[in-house]
Amino acid sequence: MKIVMLGAPGAGKGTQAIMISEKFGLPHISTGDIFRSNIKNGTELGKEAKKYMDEGRLVPDELTVRILLDRVSREDCAGGYVLDGFPRTIPQAEVLTKELSAMGDAIDFALNIDVPDENIVNRMSGRRSCPSCGATYHIQYVPPKKEGICDECGNALILRDDDKPETVLNRLKVYHEQTQPLIDYYNAAGVLRTIDGTRDVDTVFNEICSILED
Ligand code: AP5
Ligand code: MG
Repeated sequence: MKIVMLGAPGAGKGTQAIMISEKFGLPHISTGDIFRSNIKNGTELGKEAKKYMDEGRLVPDELTVRILLDRVSREDCAGGYVLDGFPRTIPQAEVLTKELSAMGDAIDFALNIDVPDENIVNRMSGRRSCPSCGATYHIQYVPPKKEGICDECGNALILRDDDKPETVLNRLKVYHEQTQPLIDYYNAAGVLRTIDGTRDVDTVFNEICSILED
């Protein structure tokens, strides 16, 4: 099963992708997480990506595509995967479609988590992330058991650098210009499913499960 998560920044792609990954035993691949771990480790890739991410712009397609194709070619991806944050432009989607079709394969589901812009800024300012394992919380909607500490690994939670309100507004603008056209792209491919993402995390997940199990 090969799944693509679509949705605005803060729609809940990462939250749901981790739950899908655990339930269906699929690797969760987030290009944002790959970039953030490179930034944390001070790699050349991290230095390059940070220039774009801090402004809420997209990392260039060429670089992003190379990293993603390398990741999905590993053995753990043979039985499928959940892509979270990729593709994010039409050229990225076209490369993925081409690579998969060369192997007689295709994306099975594009899950579009629909959340209006007005809800997004509030979600982002309340988000807390674990820099170590990537788990995500919200101070109001998804609080950790102990304030400021990751339930999974016990590390201190942080506010992501790109979650400042002015950067979030730019990320939303970039989303509407460059990423939203993917909704039509995957609709035309016959694999788009849109889910109302304004409901609580478990309700959204239950709907996703019924789509995937159908
Ligand atoms: P990335 O890390 O992918 O960020 P994003 O798409 O902006 O999305 P987020 O991770 O911010 O949101 P999410 O949808 O995962 O929401 P979450 O589950 O955390 O990318 C970051 C940057 O990297 C980009 O700006 C770009 O520069 C670069 N990049 C990455 N991929 C790229 C690509 N392919 N090409 C080019 N550049 C790329 O949830 C948000 C909050 O809401 C959390 O606090 C959560 O607890 C809470 N929440 C979740 N669900 C619910 C719910 N149902 N109800 C209430 N609260 C909820
Ligand atoms: Mg995310």
